[in-house]
Amino acid sequence: MALLKIARLGHPVLRQVSSPVTDPSDSETRRLVGDMIETMRDANGAGLAAPQVYALKRIIVFHAPADPHDPDERSSAPFTVLINPEFEPVSEQKDVGWEGCLSIPGLRGQVKRWSHIRYRGIGLGGRTVEREATGFHARVVQHEIDHLDGILYPDRMSTMASLCFDTELDHFLADEDDSQDE
Ligand code: NI
Repeated sequence: MALLKIARLGHPVLRQVSSPVTDPSDSETRRLVGDMIETMRDANGAGLAAPQVYALKRIIVFHAPADPHDPDERSSAPFTVLINPEFEPVSEQKDVGWEGCLSIPGLRGQVKRWSHIRYRGIGLGGRTVEREATGFHARVVQHEIDHLDGILYPDRMSTMASLCFDTELDHFLADEDDSQDE
């Protein structure tokens, strides 16, 4: 496996629409997924989408650590690979939360997302993964799927007033845990 270079804001690859994977089990896809997981872990990210490593394929990897402040078990998820992922909201509710992105290092912003979603995709073994997600888990999945359509989190911010450097986050919320980049 190898660490891959992560595209940064401004590179056109981040603005393109990725193509579905036709054979999720081929060796090229498995190698790419392995490299994406290694790259995400190395960068201490919560998620990574294939276009962030210059591969215009509909593949995301992510995890959502358990949050002691959020008892809903659907808000956390183990390391997960999703090929050709899709989702739909389960309720009308949306929440505002902080996001970062490995392609926009050093910055954070508040983004409104669906609070409760159902998603599905093909896992590494070829089986369909289907889950409900809430909280940070729902947020990271929506963030990563946006990458597959060339959408970055600042596009989803209703105002730029919360856009800030990591180091200034304390000015907004004194006791909120720092979030991970997606
Ligand atoms: Ni991102």
